[in-house]
Amino acid sequence: MKIIVTDSYEEMSAIGAEVILQTVREKPNCTLGLATGTTPLGMYRILIQAFQSGRISFRRVKTVNLDEYVGLRADNENSYAYFMCNRLFQNIDIDLQNTHIPDGSVSDLSAECERYTKLLQSMPRDVQVLGLGSDGHIGFNEPGAPFDGHTHITALDQRTVQDNARLFRDISEVPSCAVTMGIADIMQAKRILMLANGKNKAEAVWGMVRGEVTEAVPASVLQRHPDVIAVFDRESAAMLSE
Ligand code: GLP
Repeated sequence: MKIIVTDSYEEMSAIGAEVILQTVREKPNCTLGLATGTTPLGMYRILIQAFQSGRISFRRVKTVNLDEYVGLRADNENSYAYFMCNRLFQNIDIDLQNTHIPDGSVSDLSAECERYTKLLQSMPRDVQVLGLGSDGHIGFNEPGAPFDGHTHITALDQRTVQDNARLFRDISEVPSCAVTMGIADIMQAKRILMLANGKNKAEAVWGMVRGEVTEAVPASVLQRHPDVIAVFDRESAAMLSE
């Protein structure tokens, strides 16, 4: 695992963006696994600037997202589909037909999980972007999620509901379930780009990098991946130097 500790969120975002830009330059028709959450927002802003200044085109890039809340349609502003459109896709030249996000609003969720698992198998990712839950989750694979799991429906841990409530009007509006790529799906990516910032991630960062590899800390599985670039700010990496 390559670990880069940066002085700031901005620096973390710039290094993350450079990994993505380099991938797209080398392989214009690459497949990117993308993440939502607050963490990658700065990186997405830099990708948008790179496109707007004519330094890159995403015209042939394909994307698959990690997860989506159950029960939220793409036009709900709290859905991850809305987030991706708003924060990235509509600001670059990507073909929306080439972007994929699990649909948590369908009635047959198990068919949707099967569809998405098959889709992932047909779209090997060159880079998978990951954020980190304060409980060590990746995607919405909460503590205890099996390492050999594929796309599935999961109940959100109370801590995740609390963490994500800041993005909703009220905690009661946070969905209790989500559809997420499984850990086996995540591990299929050729390269993983993990970003984390802030002191509330310090414990999870330690568990991911130094802790025992255990399903109780989903991100610890990344110790078994051959090509991980982990970019942390100083606060989230604080426990690594203790
Ligand atoms: C959310 C998402 C994850 C994200 C993580 C961290 O619940 N499901 O994909 O990486 O939790 O979120 P944030 O970046 O807002 O801290």
